Amino acid sequence: MGLMGLGTVGSGVMQIIEENQRHLQQQIGCPIEVSRVLVRDMKKKRDIVTPHDKLTTNPADIINDPDIHLIVEVIGGVELTKEYLLQAIENGKHIVTANKNLMGTYGVEILRKAKEHGCDVFYEASVGGGIPIIRPLVESFAADRVHKIMGIVNGTTNFILSKLSKDSETFEVVLEEAQKLGYAESDPTDDIEGIDSAYKISILGSLGFQTNLTISDVCSQGISNITKRDVWYGKKLDCEIKLLAIAERDANGISLSVEPVMIHQNHPLASVNGVNNAICVYSDAVGETIFYGQGAGSLPTAHSVVGDIVAVAKNMNQGVSGRSLPETHEEKRIKSDDEIYEKYFILIEANNGNSSISNIISSLDGIFDTIECFDKSIDENACNEIMIKTQLISKSNLNKVLRKIEELSVVEKVASVYRMEGISA
Ligand SMILES: NC(=O)c1ccc[n+]([C@@H]2O[C@H](COP(=O)([O-])OP(=O)(O)OC[C@H]3O[C@@H](n4cnc5c(N)ncnc54)[C@H](OP(=O)(O)O)[C@@H]3O)[C@@H](O)[C@H]2O)c1
Repeated sequence: MGLMGLGTVGSGVMQIIEENQRHLQQQIGCPIEVSRVLVRDMKKKRDIVTPHDKLTTNPADIINDPDIHLIVEVIGGVELTKEYLLQAIENGKHIVTANKNLMGTYGVEILRKAKEHGCDVFYEASVGGGIPIIRPLVESFAADRVHKIMGIVNGTTNFILSKLSKDSETFEVVLEEAQKLGYAESDPTDDIEGIDSAYKISILGSLGFQTNLTISDVCSQGISNITKRDVWYGKKLDCEIKLLAIAERDANGISLSVEPVMIHQNHPLASVNGVNNAICVYSDAVGETIFYGQGAGSLPTAHSVVGDIVAVAKNMNQGVSGRSLPETHEEKRIKSDDEIYEKYFILIEANNGNSSISNIISSLDGIFDTIECFDKSIDENACNEIMIKTQLISKSNLNKVLRKIEELSVVEKVASVYRMEGISA
């Protein structure tokens, strides 16, 4: 095989192949030999010892080498990487990748090309790092009908939200701590703004619903506006705030979202803390199934990559390469905001202290028949705050309601809005 990338994941792949060679060979029937390794900088000091003549900075040394049957891509990136992999597939090479950005953007094109050329493309590590989720969705749920996938698929944001829930620090302080600990990148935009999770849920949704979904189908929102006050209100309602990636389908179509959600403490995702990931799959026959574990890191992610390498090698041995690619036979219909119904928490700030609260309540009462319940502030000290919990309301109706609330003269602003999950009544 050729290995593209010798960073966090690539080094883990080398380590697992070296340490577990005998065990791997027993499963495959032959040794795995890493014959070339693509890097950017040949002179870089590395923890993993790799013979210098195996290293290259020229991707063609791997893509065009007739002795390389399998390419493991762990360099990251999208456009250039897509070109490398399409070229490699045209040359008849099987692919294993951990690249969610690539698969969440060009997965359809890459899988189509692989099918044409009878090549395998496996990407278990692209979602959930070390957690097996892609193969179970494709294989173990084959006899069932998945209608919802809901997960915490980004460790960085979950670390930050877990800290915000337990400690008294602000978002900015916790983000800085995450960066110092190496859990957040120096530019954390992709994680914090939900982009990383959006790539992942587009992949999971495609597999769960057997259709072609991409990141452009995901409605996403990040966590940078979450305040300590929101966390406090969440707790008063027995909820935690989590960044959830959610894919749902019913007879009317599919909705994909990434957003901070108030989730009831009784729901298993509410107690997933730190950098861990967890994904709940809801299907007709089995009900709720939960996948939990380390969503990133060198060895956990490499374990998934090497699992895929074994799968490719077994398929090669049996002469069935390219036959286990995921099928996409369902029509894709993304729901409009009129068709997506959820429950919401809304926090309103009044502009004039105590007297405004009763004014707001009476202003809301009767105007918005879509809001079936609302409570006065649960914070006795916050005399100018009102919390509303809605029943199921469409997204488009919610937006109309929010605009009307903001137009009320007694209202300073709508301070926060959160989707609620795991709330029974
Ligand atoms: N880290 C995780 O926990 C994790 C988890 C799940 C999925 N992933 C995915 O796995 C992939 C790799 O992540 P990583 O954390 O291992 O990245 P990383 O530590 O930054 O390593 C990237 C490696 O690729 C090489 N590289 C990058 N661009 C290149 C180019 N244009 N040409 C040649 N070599 C290039 C780098 O070379 P140099 O060493 O010379 O700089 C480095 O060895 C990404 O797609 C990521 O999303 C990572």
